[in-house]
Amino acid sequence: MKKLSLILAAVSILVTGCSEPTDSSAQVSASATAVADPAVVAKQQLLNQGKSRAISCTACHGLQGISNVAMYPSLAGRDAAELKQLLVAYRTGEKVNPLMSPQAKALSDADVDLLAKYFSVLPAK
Ligand code: HEC
Repeated sequence: MKKLSLILAAVSILVTGCSEPTDSSAQVSASATAVADPAVVAKQQLLNQGKSRAISCTACHGLQGISNVAMYPSLAGRDAAELKQLLVAYRTGEKVNPLMSPQAKALSDADVDLLAKYFSVLPAK
């Protein structure tokens, strides 16, 4: 009996010793780094905020900023500064279009910034 419990104790020490979680602890620290990466967090925030603000735009410019209708230009993957400049031009009346002008006039400065950046990070066709 004594021998048997000694053997059991030895076996359990061996088993726990062997299951030392070396790679699972590596996984934990890798995912912790990904979550904390400020660039990843910022891009996700931009995508979330932009998506909800862009709902009205997507009716004409396509769900992902890619339009299948020639009269509506695609916006995805284009330069953010250029998109911003175009939006500002419609807002000030420098550029006029009966469909687009009222859309741009309803945008705040923050909206213009957000939407220009949002469409620029969406993948182009
Ligand atoms: C009712 C349809 C409609 C909606 C909604 C709309 N647009 Fe437009 N948009 C247009 C049309 C049409 C043009 C092209 C105008 C022209 O040819 O002058 C345009 C042009 C643009 C341009 C210039 C692109 C270029 O290559 O010249 C940008 C940028 C733009 N829209 C962004 C937006 C954003 C951001 C929203 C949402 C706030 C939006 N649009 C909502 C119809 C729409």
